[in-house]
Amino acid sequence: MAVALERASVSLGGHVVWRDASLEVAAGEFVAILGPNGAGKSTLLKALLGVVPLSAGTARVFGRPVRRGNDAVGYLPQRRRFDPDLRIRALDLVSLGLDGDRLGVPLPSPANAERVREMIELVGAGAYAGRPIGELSGGEQQRILIAQALVTGARMLMLDEPLESLDLNNQQAISDLIRTICQRRLVTVLLVAHDINPILPFVDRVVYVAGGRVLCGKPEEVIRTETLTRLYGAPVEVLRTSDGRIVVVGQHEPVSYHAADN
Ligand SMILES: Nc1ncnc2c1ncn2[C@@H]1O[C@H](COP(=O)(O)OP(=O)(O)OP(=O)(O)O)[C@@H](O)[C@H]1O
Ligand SMILES: [Mg+2]
Repeated sequence: MAVALERASVSLGGHVVWRDASLEVAAGEFVAILGPNGAGKSTLLKALLGVVPLSAGTARVFGRPVRRGNDAVGYLPQRRRFDPDLRIRALDLVSLGLDGDRLGVPLPSPANAERVREMIELVGAGAYAGRPIGELSGGEQQRILIAQALVTGARMLMLDEPLESLDLNNQQAISDLIRTICQRRLVTVLLVAHDINPILPFVDRVVYVAGGRVLCGKPEEVIRTETLTRLYGAPVEVLRTSDGRIVVVGQHEPVSYHAADN
């Protein structure tokens, strides 16, 4: 098991974010974490990173109790933005993922340079990897950050809204890429997403966080009117459009819309 959460609860600032969450993720699975703003999706990743303590229950990653600074886990926090004046090249930012946090400065070695180039190619960022990160568009920065998370060779990636600010085509391309990485390298991926549609063809399972609870299952089991209504404790309706998209209506904010509506 890559992740095992047993009857876990988290409280922050004296308020329960979610309680009694049980969840198991097998190695190599691609799991999407969904739910409305403020439901506790980022908190779930932070609990698994050992950054936020559980108030009850247990959390294990690769069979061991969670701990901070686990090299086996790569993490991409939500909404990372760079100062437009930041002059560091995108390429060098990726190589920081390799050796930056251990040694302070990246060690230039041909093997490392090759690995960095491979990851940049993998995320399709070759055309702008030599440019300063601060100059790149939000979507270009996201790709560079995904390359940085991947380059470590982590066995698990926790990606908090990595598809944010990508257009629909790029959301699909990156999801497809992450799927390939899961399969080829047996990397387990937990990915927080705002919209299930671009990732639906690629994910093995979804974790839905809402109403102070956490529910895990196959997309077709979880994203259903009855299941979500029970989870939210309020009427929620799951609609399927003629082009196969899923729209969840009746929750506090829409989770599904075309990226172009943004
Ligand atoms: N350090 C903190 N102290 C107190 N409350 C916190 C803290 N961090 C988060 N919270 C609260 O916990 C809840 C869950 O936050 P979290 O960031 O996990 O939500 P989320 O599902 O990731 O939301 P979003 O979709 O907006 O990113 C929110 O109500 C938030 O205000
Ligand atoms: Mg969040």
